[in-house]
Amino acid sequence: MEANTPRFYFVFLSLLLSSRFLVEGFSGEEEEEEKDIKITDFPHGFVFGVSTSAYQIEGAYLEGGKSLNNWDVFSRIQGNIKHGDNGYISVDDYHRYLEDTEIVHSLGVKAYRLSISWSRVLPEGRFGQVNPAGVMFYSNVIDKLLLKGIEPFLTIHHHDLPQELEDRYGAWLSPLMQEDFVHFAEICFKNFGDRVKYWMTINEPNLFANLAYMDGKYPPGRCSLPFGNCSVGNSDIEPLTVMHNMLLAHAKAAKLYRDHFQAIRLPKQGGSIGIVVSATMFEPLRDDPIDQEAANRASLDPLLFGDYPPEMRHYLGSNLPCFSPEETKYIEGSIDFIAVNHYTTLYAKDCLHSNCTAGADHAIKGYAYITGERDGVFIGEPTGMPECYVVPRGMENIVDYLKKRYHNMPMFVTENGYASLELQDAQMKNLLHDSKRIEFHKAYLAFLARAIRKGADVRGYFVWTLMDDFEWISGYRMRLGMYYVHPQTLNRIPKLSAQWYEGFLSSNGLNNKEATNASLLKDENAIVSEPVNETAEI
Ligand code: BGC
Repeated sequence: MEANTPRFYFVFLSLLLSSRFLVEGFSGEEEEEEKDIKITDFPHGFVFGVSTSAYQIEGAYLEGGKSLNNWDVFSRIQGNIKHGDNGYISVDDYHRYLEDTEIVHSLGVKAYRLSISWSRVLPEGRFGQVNPAGVMFYSNVIDKLLLKGIEPFLTIHHHDLPQELEDRYGAWLSPLMQEDFVHFAEICFKNFGDRVKYWMTINEPNLFANLAYMDGKYPPGRCSLPFGNCSVGNSDIEPLTVMHNMLLAHAKAAKLYRDHFQAIRLPKQGGSIGIVVSATMFEPLRDDPIDQEAANRASLDPLLFGDYPPEMRHYLGSNLPCFSPEETKYIEGSIDFIAVNHYTTLYAKDCLHSNCTAGADHAIKGYAYITGERDGVFIGEPTGMPECYVVPRGMENIVDYLKKRYHNMPMFVTENGYASLELQDAQMKNLLHDSKRIEFHKAYLAFLARAIRKGADVRGYFVWTLMDDFEWISGYRMRLGMYYVHPQTLNRIPKLSAQWYEGFLSSNGLNNKEATNASLLKDENAIVSEPVNETAEI
């Protein structure tokens, strides 16, 4: 989740879903006030987990046969990442995965979402060999998880890709990337498919396309005015090209999985496959139908399955690529579940009939101005993440929206998390006593439970994230982890939230009020006595 997240959030889903699911009953009744959430408020079999991604935790950027990837190269350019941070060492999960699996296990979660580093497994993409050391690494991680009774949820592509593909043909700007992705996916299915049952092809294509090609904030840093001041790019068109290629790449990989892997593993081991969407909820800024329209456009509201929604075609015209009839056929219905990353709710204001600036009056933004503020009042308490506010009701609303729009397709909330405010972080003590994070999760979970009670088919919830990590352009000082990682020793130290999650999962009723400060004192002393350099120096 980043500032100015993209419009047209759900266009992917409209294309991917078929109408084979029927809408289930929805009472619409108002329920009682939220109460302290308990694990028993969730249905039997509901899965709780934690999420991470390869580049954000692994480090070992040139070890074990890994090649340079887009983030390695992007971080070298001064000013791209806050404080000059990078992921070269990160929190060193590559060398500490055994310890990290133990930590995951100690939380009591039943699932762990991780991603595969493309440049570790295929250093040159399709143009080189599979790297056996890379495959072995993930195989070991998966084995270790399973040994501990933890289900791996695998994201194939989470923002990082071999630089080779960028250099050769411009990566996601080119349709050639579809074939590269399918090749990568096939290697993953072949090597890990015997043990992995939950696959997610691409993490947040909607967010990535806009951050990288509209705002120019993510590699390859392409954009045009007024969205950003990049040396090259076209913010009005390129995000659409990228999204189109990602969508087709997903669909082709899903078809491959279904034709050659999923089926032969049935009936006992048949896995399922989905795609991850960045799902911000929008509310109208003003009590005005045109702002409600803007909120709908921002979350775009697809009615047709198998092609882009007509509204998008209307607003974007020939900038929006077309699908061939064959492509339409295999895109339609190409997911078994929706993986939902939800952090916040924002206001949307109409820019079709009202004056807006800063790019909000462009078609690529859905003619919607997005803000977290109304008449000087924030929509929720601000967090350490730009444009991200604490709005727990948004969890119920987004799930409800997806339920209705997509015929109650099975969903997993694959990311939900709280970034501590930097001010708080100035003191080590506050880093560990992350009671606001606990409050955040409890409140969001309470609204998720309500949505489920009202009939939404949500099957799991993953906290973002296990431990403080490389938060992309925000570097290491934006912290969402339940474990603090000491910048020099890289020791993992549980925050209060880790204790809360463990207590919540084991139903011992431990909550943030009961988790004692004393239990943290030992760890606190251990780190306070060391110099506090918040940035991992490379
Ligand atoms: C991304 C994560 C990221 C998180 C918090 C999500 O959009 O999938 O990789 O760390 O937001 O910024």
